[in-house]
Amino acid sequence: MTRPDQQPANPDPSPDALSLQERASLTSGGDTWHTTAVPGVRALTLADGPHGIRRQAEGSGDALGLDVSVPATCFPPAVTLGSSWDAGLARRVGAALAREASALGADVVLGPGVNIKRSPLCGRNFEYFSEDPHLTGAMGAAVVTGIQSLGIGACVKHFAANNQETDRMRISADVDERTLREIYLAAFEHIVRTADPAMVMCSYNKINGVHASQNRWLLTEVLREEWGFGGAVVSDWGAVNDRVAALAAGLDLEMPPTGTDQEIVDAVRSGRLAEEDVTRAAGRVIALARRAGTAERFTGWDVDAHHELAREAARASAVLLKNDGDVLPLDPRAGQRVAVIGELARTPRYQGHGSSHVVPTRLDNAWDALTGGFGPAATLDFAAGYRLDGEPDAGLAQEAVAAAERADVALVFLGLPDQAESEGFDRAGIDLPDVQTGLLREIAGACGRVVVVLANGGVVSVAEWRDDVAAILEAWLPGQAGGAAIADLLLGACSPSGRLTETIPLRLRDVPSYLHFPGADGHVVYGEGRYVGYRHHDTLGTEVAYPFGHGLGYTRFEYSGLDARETAPNEWAVEVTVTNVGERAGDEVVQLYVAFDEEAPTRPRHELRGFAKVGLEPGEGTRVRFTLGGRDIARWSPARGEWAIDPGRFTVEVGASSRDIRARAELATPGDGHVAVLGRMSTLGEWLDHPVGGPVLKGLLRGAPGAAPSSPALRALARGVPLAKFTTFGIGLTAESIDRLIEAVREAEARG
Ligand code: BGC
Repeated sequence: MTRPDQQPANPDPSPDALSLQERASLTSGGDTWHTTAVPGVRALTLADGPHGIRRQAEGSGDALGLDVSVPATCFPPAVTLGSSWDAGLARRVGAALAREASALGADVVLGPGVNIKRSPLCGRNFEYFSEDPHLTGAMGAAVVTGIQSLGIGACVKHFAANNQETDRMRISADVDERTLREIYLAAFEHIVRTADPAMVMCSYNKINGVHASQNRWLLTEVLREEWGFGGAVVSDWGAVNDRVAALAAGLDLEMPPTGTDQEIVDAVRSGRLAEEDVTRAAGRVIALARRAGTAERFTGWDVDAHHELAREAARASAVLLKNDGDVLPLDPRAGQRVAVIGELARTPRYQGHGSSHVVPTRLDNAWDALTGGFGPAATLDFAAGYRLDGEPDAGLAQEAVAAAERADVALVFLGLPDQAESEGFDRAGIDLPDVQTGLLREIAGACGRVVVVLANGGVVSVAEWRDDVAAILEAWLPGQAGGAAIADLLLGACSPSGRLTETIPLRLRDVPSYLHFPGADGHVVYGEGRYVGYRHHDTLGTEVAYPFGHGLGYTRFEYSGLDARETAPNEWAVEVTVTNVGERAGDEVVQLYVAFDEEAPTRPRHELRGFAKVGLEPGEGTRVRFTLGGRDIARWSPARGEWAIDPGRFTVEVGASSRDIRARAELATPGDGHVAVLGRMSTLGEWLDHPVGGPVLKGLLRGAPGAAPSSPALRALARGVPLAKFTTFGIGLTAESIDRLIEAVREAEARG
């Protein structure tokens, strides 16, 4: 068992007590994984993240240590954990990560990664939770809370708009502010506001032309001044291009060091950099050390218990996409012949490649787990079927087809090999390797009951072959205990309960960012705006292979008794009863969407605003409760520079996926009371609709020639014209009368 061992508290000097040189050195690492020690402040150790601790042995000499780190539990990566839709589970995984980090001598875990899946092609999607910011924010906050429950710091990354790997160190993500706020910053904002992460890692890329590492708007105005972030901002490894500009913009810690401390000192001395910028950043690194000093220290962890937790997480996250004729679960006691096909059943792909790569403490594979899981009455055959390097191998394929012909059921393990997706490059397509789909066609011809088990970090297309098979279990990259978890699910030890956190499109070209990914000439334009994933598909009604939120289990749930009511101004309570009406225990993920039914959409058709995972025995029901606040129905107003709530009606929807809404209720909001400031260039319509300006203008125009056009078309046309333009169109308005009008409105507003 582990033994807590408190570290001595830091003497915690004030940054003012340190020389400028010492303060400068605090704002840059001591080496690849440590901050710099100065008198009274110890060096902190940072380790990847996000789904396991990648801690290289001290003195190993391998700067990046991608494949040679000290063994640690490889939990399911975010693509998988996110699919559990279980924040409690994510918290427990976070706490386990913290314990391992502590035991391995790390103070901060470099994770979670909370970038939005803008395109299924992003090579690093396996490290991210979802195409949806609400789900990403909730799961990310849970991981942060779990990690920090033991005093270890979490580092939320990569801030921000780092949604591709292509040219990631130079590309400018060109995104309008509303899209940034509503989609790409929202999860970071939620985590910063609710979970107090110790660190935020800025991304490599530029945002609208300015590198994240030296983006004052992002790092200071938004992150600190608006959201109240109190931790330290660290650069992604090598993301600093101009250290002076970065410090001035709000970056606190450059990693790894570039040996430019003297440059910082000189910049202060020459007046190019304010000394207080250096002092502030150094102060934040000292505060981080102080925070780390309060962490419980552990000397080890229960390797079996963490492996079990990894297995539980993998089980809770696999998504059963289809299950025709209830082919699953298989009865382990039945006398049947089972063909287990696919190299991935024996050589699992369980995590992605790059900086998140963990050396696991042990590794399960599905073949071993299945042979142990079936009883003596069953006969199991294994056939590799294909090579992982994608080279055709007719012998392997023939052997697999022969096994399928003999079998009552064929379990076919398919997926993406390591070289298909990784940090550092994007995918070119979303299809499985040809050798695998070709083999699957032959197996489907040879055996009537085919179950496909998928292993992949980024979404793969299923449209071409899904009708040929009875069931598909999307296991994602399931971590080191994935093999056992898959056997648990196939054999019915528990019911699948994962749900899609991203849409599976029919074709790559259906993806909303298709025409705008990955950009060219140093720019990627986020042309699809806020219409990412289901926000696009559900607004347009596009056919998809499987929608956001979809996932089956071995039982069924009914929804009843939806009640939605206002509890305070711009606050609502929503309740619904969910009942397990099937024969087995299972978990349902109840999803709450807010919908804006507009003829000409100005916002996505609906957006996820709540979810709850509930476990129910057969026949059992429970009341699920959500609360909604003003922010849940707000939009970002670039004109106002704040979140705006427009008065009007909206609908709450509860359901089992974005396309399986089971109950709806209408609600109304009075808005946020904002009254627009009228000016000369406000349109006639804006004037007429204005609570104060409308009556004043109508009073002035009463009886004026041409002021009340009789034709509806002319009235509609006139509403869109700025008032100032009427000085040339007649109806008796002059520049002076408009100024008098504006004055009259101001006076009326001042009188209240
Ligand atoms: C990755 C980060 C990682 C860092 C340190 C970078 O290349 O983008 O996610 O934490 O390296 O390994």
